[in-house]
Amino acid sequence: MLENFDRLIAMRDYKTRSEAIRDLIRDALIQQKIDSKSEIKVLGSLTLVYDHHASKLLQEMAEIQHLHHNLILSVTHLHITHEDCLELIALHGAANEITTLANALLSLKGIKHGKLFLTLPYSVIVKKDSLT
Ligand code: NI
Repeated sequence: MLENFDRLIAMRDYKTRSEAIRDLIRDALIQQKIDSKSEIKVLGSLTLVYDHHASKLLQEMAEIQHLHHNLILSVTHLHITHEDCLELIALHGAANEITTLANALLSLKGIKHGKLFLTLPYSVIVKKDSLT
């Protein structure tokens, strides 16, 4: 297990095991705090890859985003190939509302891949856990 871990930390450019372990612990603590059903205020980024030829998809995506416009900070759209688009959506708000919005988008027909990342402002994490 240690050999595999050393390979992983080398791939991620960590200089020492302790740096890698610190980040793993921090991530675990953040994820523990962020219950997807809670109203805790979080920051998020949602990445979506989709085929813009999929019928109705663009209209459905726009309708869902307008329904939750209060959660959306910005939307960046990239045309990455002839058919594929990548959309990066920056989010802030209650964890449960952001998760609902993300699930509504991720489950649409035509979305090829996507992932929601949630985090907390660093000052909140440090204040509550004294993690440095
Ligand atoms: Ni596009």
